[in-house]
Amino acid sequence: MSDAAPPVLISESEIAARVEELARQISADYQDKGDLVLIGVLKGAFIFLADLSRQLTIPRTIEFIAVSSYENSSVSSGAVRLVMDVRGNIEGRHVLIVEDIVDTGRTLEYLIGMLESHGPASIRTCALLHKPGSTEVEVDINYVGFGIGGEWVVGYGLDYAEHNRTLPYIGKVKPSD
Ligand code: PRP
Repeated sequence: MSDAAPPVLISESEIAARVEELARQISADYQDKGDLVLIGVLKGAFIFLADLSRQLTIPRTIEFIAVSSYENSSVSSGAVRLVMDVRGNIEGRHVLIVEDIVDTGRTLEYLIGMLESHGPASIRTCALLHKPGSTEVEVDINYVGFGIGGEWVVGYGLDYAEHNRTLPYIGKVKPSD
């Protein structure tokens, strides 16, 4: 597959408006709680995390974690693999996991369990995109940007076989492309 522009599912301006709303809501919810640790899930969340974090009006720090499950395939293998753990200490701190997309829910379920073992004060979750029709394990997503259907999506951090991550909008591709 090339980086030819796929059709738009969610435009750049729709994303910007929703990210602003999410940032406002998160800032209000954590107003009196002290530092918030944002944990971006690599690779897909890097752009969403960058935009969201810069719009928050509360004290925050940034961490990254890397997991892999799809391994260049459009079908989840079901097994989540930790590729890189957080660097900072999250014990006693409020944590917000930032994901680009929640599909089956397996990655988020794994991350919540794994991060809970570090003893944070709280863990909440934020995903730009959610595919409710693909749920295999129920996980709480506290902040959701957009609910979408079963289509494979790219752009704004999301890839198809590593292509199109830097597309400024969310586009649709078929796995057969
Ligand atoms: C994607 C996405 C989520 C996960 C969601 O990651 O970024 O982390 O899949 O799927 P799930 O709800 O079915 O677990 P991917 O493994 O494609 O890695 P990437 O972020 O590096 O592209």
